[in-house]
Amino acid sequence: MDIKLKEIQQDYLNKIKTAKNLKDLDEIFLSLFGKNGEVTLLPKQFSQLDKEQLKKLGPLFNQVKQELEKVIGNRRQAIREESYKALENEEFTLPPLRWEAKQRTGHTHPLTAFEQHTAKIFNKLGFVQIDAPLIDTDYNNFEVLNIPENHPARDLWDTLYINSNLKTQNSKLLLRTHTSNSQIRALSQNKPPIRLMNIGRCFRYENVDARHEHTFEQFEIIYVDKGVSMANLQYLSEYFLKSIFGEDIKVRLKPKYYPFVEPGVGVDGLCIFCKGKGCRVCGGIGWLELAGAGMIHPNVLRAGDIDPKEYSGIAWGFGPARMAMIKYGIEDIRLFNSGELAFLEKF
Ligand code: DAH
Repeated sequence: MDIKLKEIQQDYLNKIKTAKNLKDLDEIFLSLFGKNGEVTLLPKQFSQLDKEQLKKLGPLFNQVKQELEKVIGNRRQAIREESYKALENEEFTLPPLRWEAKQRTGHTHPLTAFEQHTAKIFNKLGFVQIDAPLIDTDYNNFEVLNIPENHPARDLWDTLYINSNLKTQNSKLLLRTHTSNSQIRALSQNKPPIRLMNIGRCFRYENVDARHEHTFEQFEIIYVDKGVSMANLQYLSEYFLKSIFGEDIKVRLKPKYYPFVEPGVGVDGLCIFCKGKGCRVCGGIGWLELAGAGMIHPNVLRAGDIDPKEYSGIAWGFGPARMAMIKYGIEDIRLFNSGELAFLEKF
């Protein structure tokens, strides 16, 4: 039996030496040490041997087995090193086409796209976009809009004040709670007829949920001229909502209190999901509130140096995120600012 063992040893040492690749080596390994491998099967015949023979053969068997394993391991390493060397001599260049295909091309954020579309609609009617600061004075955001300090109406806005001794024109600073802070600028820096709009971020100390964000957008429209009335407000509300939601939408004005308008209204659109029957989206009411609006209060006109006996004005504050959610069927307002690519790439 030791002759057989020596044969195996010789035969396989040659095979291992001439193996060209790792696959050859795997086959050699299996024919030696696999389930029916020659080395695996050999000990089954040990039972035929007497004690003396076994004493001699046992250590020889182990020695040959270990040698073959070791030689296979060394050859495997050598084959690997040869293939690395071959790779080193090859010239590598980046496959440019594949890389380009992976580049993302960005696009406008859905809310920005919606706001640009909205601005275009009013632009066609002669409304011009103006800016107003996101950090503003208490005066511009509240006081001049007929909301004095300590007036209970302030509770309508959960305000983020800036905790600082910094004051501008002796007025505290805050994060604007609405785009209505653009009103006093629009009125005092322009002569009627005035047709202006302001779109941008507003901030409130909100409990955030699927319909409320602490950082959100508003869209303010201001129109002042001789003889402007609630009829203009009704007509323009309808015109605007039809251009967004289609001809079928119906609009109603319901009385609502805002200190800077008189009368003040909520602008509702007939729920586009249930057509007024009442559903989950409109909370069973059949109507969705899309804006606050009204006739600009005489005190506000006067603060802007406009004579309320000669001129009158209307103003709205729309919620573009709310409108975009309805138009595109978006269920959670938080998605807009989430940076969630899966959401953004749908647009
Ligand atoms: N600024 C109001 C708000 O944030 C909305 C609003 C109501 C704007 C009436 C207006 C207005 O211009 O006339 O709730």
